[in-house]
Parts: sequence; structure tokens; C-alpha cells
Amino acid sequence: MLLLTLGTAAGGGVPQWNCACPGCSGARAHPDRRRSHDSLAVFSGGQSSWFLINAGPDITDHLEAHAELRPGAGSERTPVVRILLTDAELDHTLGLLRLREAHRLEIFATAPVRQALRERLALDSVLTPYATITWHDLPPSGQTPTVAAGIEVSAVPLSTKRPRYAADAVEDDTWVVAVRLHDPTTGTTALYAPALAAWTEDFANEAAGADCVFVDGTFWDDDEPKRLGISARTSTGMGHLPIDGPGGTAGRLAQLPGRCLYTHLNNTNPLVDPFAPQHGVLAGLGLEVAQDGMVIEL
Ligand code: MLT
Ligand code: MN
Ligand code: ZN
Repeated sequence: MLLLTLGTAAGGGVPQWNCACPGCSGARAHPDRRRSHDSLAVFSGGQSSWFLINAGPDITDHLEAHAELRPGAGSERTPVVRILLTDAELDHTLGLLRLREAHRLEIFATAPVRQALRERLALDSVLTPYATITWHDLPPSGQTPTVAAGIEVSAVPLSTKRPRYAADAVEDDTWVVAVRLHDPTTGTTALYAPALAAWTEDFANEAAGADCVFVDGTFWDDDEPKRLGISARTSTGMGHLPIDGPGGTAGRLAQLPGRCLYTHLNNTNPLVDPFAPQHGVLAGLGLEVAQDGMVIEL
């Protein structure tokens, strides 16, 4: 399978329209530092079929930016768009509305995520006059996998964190999941976890067996959102394990055998500056920071 990182930023992107923090100002001055909302395109070997994980507000720009995702020669329209969702957050789902020109949308998500999108965001009633939507379950790993474009896909439950617009909805540990991708042809596995609230046993086991792991890189340290005044909560309190410090993900990822890349970077994260010393710390641990437009073959 082939993975293409379409975007690598947390909600708001880098720069964020209403922010002039060093990260946002730096990205305005140096356009190569810009990051769009995190999303991954997955291609299965030998086929022209592909699917997406998460559809943020940049999604149609992503599809237009990469020739492989444009309608092929001889086909006037992209016939079907398949999207897997890690959660129901707006920064991962607003793009579904931007895909309204699609003939057919196939959406794979866990039960609480589907319910939030259908009942709270009224996606069915808003989108059905434009496109045919088919909802699919994203089953837990270990169950009969759903197959999208020749790849086995499943969910690794991560946390009960609900989007702010559904804060009063019923708790369920599949509100946020990692998507597990397994290519039966090559035998390779990837995990995509842009929002990791806790290092669960399930996640640790899946990550230990993966060839490539994308992990929540929202904040560098736990205090960052409080210190910089964007939230009254810590990084952990916001549902994002920090990278550094005790309980941070860097020390744990460094133990894994596979390739590890951070994604979903917030504009406050010092890593959005390519010259920040924190890059050296991660390189010393053998960890990478994903960039928009990276291609990884597994
Ligand atoms: C998150 O990643 O925590 C959410 O996207 C934040 C939000 O947009 O409320
Ligand atoms: Mn987010
Ligand atoms: Zn900013």
C-alpha cells in the first residue's frame, strides 16, 4: 500500500486565520511551513483505487493538488469517494460537505461517530439532495475486516472524547479511534492516530505490530495550551497526549520497531518551525515529523 499525507495540521491549520503566534506568523513569512488539516490518502498496490482517512476543510484542495487523486483520463467524474473517519471532530469531517459534488460518498466510521454526523450535523438531510451517501461500520480489529480498495481496515478504540458539539452524547470508547490498515498482499500494517488521548493497551499492542504509525503531535508539552493561552486545559486534558515529558508519546514511540511520524500539529507546537531544537530531540529518538505531501510505500 501507498500512503500520501495530504495534510498534517490540527484544527485551524498553520497558519490559522485568526492567529499571529510565532508558528502562524512564521508560516505566513515562509509558505513552505504551511500545513493543512490532517488527512491521509491510501492507495492499494496495482489499482487506481484510493480512499481517504479524514476529510477536513481542505479536502477538495488536497484532491486537486495531487494528480493521482484527480479523475482519470477517460472518466469525466470521480465515480466514488471513500472516506474513513477517526472521530467526528469538525477538523476531520467538515470536508464531507465540500465533497457534495460526488456522485457517491462511502463513509466508514464507528457507531457514535456516524450518529453524531447524521443526527447532530444532519449530514444525511443536507447531503442527500446532492450525493448518494452509504454509511459503513468501521469494525474493531480482530473482527471480520471491512475491505476498502483491497485494504483491510479496522478501528482501534482510543477514547470517549466527544466533539464539543456533541459533548452531552453518550460515552463510548469508540468516539475516537486509530484506523488500522492492513495490506494482505504485502502483509504490511499501518496505524493512523491523529488524536491519542491515552496510551491504551490495545493501541500499544497494535503499534508494536505496525510497520508505520502516525501519531497525535498536537502539542509538544502538556502545559503548552495553557501556557500559550489557547485553553484552560492541559494537552492531556484536551484529549491529546503531549509529545515530550513524563507520559509523553516520544519515549514510547522510540521503543517501537516500525516507522513513527507525528501528525495533527497545532500551530502552537514549536515543531512547526523547521529550525526548532525539538526536531533534533525527535531525530535522536528515531522519530519523524510528517510533512504535507509525503509518500510512504509499505
Ligand atoms: C481536537 O483535535 O482536539 C479538536 O479538533 C479540537 C476542536 O476543534 O475543538
Ligand atoms: Mn483536531
Ligand atoms: Zn497561531
